[in-house]
Amino acid sequence: MVDKALGGAGLRGQVAGQTALCTVGQTGSGLTYCGYDISELAEKAQFEEVSFLLSRGELPTTTGLADYKAKLKSLRGLPEALKTVLENIPKDAHPMDVMRTGCSMLGNLEMENDFSEANDAIDRMVAIFPSIICYWYRFTHDGVRIETQTDDDSVGAHFLTMLHDKAPSALFEQVMNVSLILYAEHEFNASTFTGRVCASTLSDIHSCVTGAIGTLRGPLHGGANEAAMDLIESFTSADQAEDALMGMLERKDKIMGFGHAIYRESDPRNVIIKKWSEKLAAEVGDDVLYPVSVRCEEVMWREKKLFCNADFFHASAYHFMGIPTKLFTPIFVMSRVTGWTAHVKEQRANNRIIRPSADYTGPDARSYTPIESR
Ligand SMILES: CC(C)(COP(=O)(O)OP(=O)(O)OC[C@H]1O[C@@H](n2cnc3c(N)ncnc32)[C@H](O)[C@@H]1OP(=O)(O)O)[C@@H](O)C(=O)NCCC(=O)NCCS
Repeated sequence: MVDKALGGAGLRGQVAGQTALCTVGQTGSGLTYCGYDISELAEKAQFEEVSFLLSRGELPTTTGLADYKAKLKSLRGLPEALKTVLENIPKDAHPMDVMRTGCSMLGNLEMENDFSEANDAIDRMVAIFPSIICYWYRFTHDGVRIETQTDDDSVGAHFLTMLHDKAPSALFEQVMNVSLILYAEHEFNASTFTGRVCASTLSDIHSCVTGAIGTLRGPLHGGANEAAMDLIESFTSADQAEDALMGMLERKDKIMGFGHAIYRESDPRNVIIKKWSEKLAAEVGDDVLYPVSVRCEEVMWREKKLFCNADFFHASAYHFMGIPTKLFTPIFVMSRVTGWTAHVKEQRANNRIIRPSADYTGPDARSYTPIESR
């Protein structure tokens, strides 16, 4: 008999290991990276400081940050063989599949010789992931071969410049910075756990990240920001959104961008990205998407006590910055690669192969029937 508490409970509440990287739903606003509260990081830090923190364990000094950013800048170029692979991926491919293939190809071209060099591979991935997705997108959608070795100061600006062929406004760069910080790390979520399981077999770091990208792709995980966009842009007013949501709730539809496996009353990332989405709405003169999003939030709380997770207001924020919906989840990858790889290193530093057991629910022992007698 299938025990719902085991199979159907998604291992909820079970401690599956230790980490010094992150707490979720415990202290401060509800999310910390290496002891720093997310609200403080999102307000004061650059994404590159957070990325440095996760890979090196401490925040950088002024010189350390300048050197690190210079290193990332120097690592934005795509090898010719990777460009060729990206040019051969169809236009209608899923962008997360492009990221997965891009990461995997990079692992072939820049093979891991020794795990002690992991930080070099991590820095390369942080620097090159925006190049991978933008090169493929611009080649297949606009027919241009873009230069990925831009001079932009930050990862977020690098991405927007490649996408739009012009440097972003200060506001857009700031929102990208905040967004990348918010998505960087989240303890033992599904994609990170995938990465750790892979790391525990002593596989290479590109395999760990490739597996994590595949896990993040699903709509119950990273894909929720795209699904939330599809939802909000299907409404033309807040009243229409309310009517439609009531119908969806009655039909017991799942509303993407709401709820969370760990947080019970709110997601600390939501209040932050919501504020930036509101600022962007004012900047671009939106009077539909933001009010629609706010009404969805009100209805879901009123009717179901379900709250927006990090993904919901990210949808409108990205849209206001002119980012195509299909690139939303790849941005998550550009950020979360920092958390994934920190976990890979943590796993490798104190490793035993991850190999849980299962309760057997199949038939009793029986003897083999020869094929001609079946
Ligand atoms: C994130 C998520 C997968 C967590 O799943 P979970 O841990 O199983 O969720 P909970 O245990 O809190 O669910 C409690 C109840 O609320 C319902 N629920 C949870 N999220 C819901 C949503 N977004 N829309 C409608 N109902 C929802 C569940 O179906 C469940 O109902 P039931 O008891 O009748 O089965 C889930 O909330 C979800 O699918 N959200 C939408 C996808 C999403 O935004 N993902 C990004 C996460 S950051």
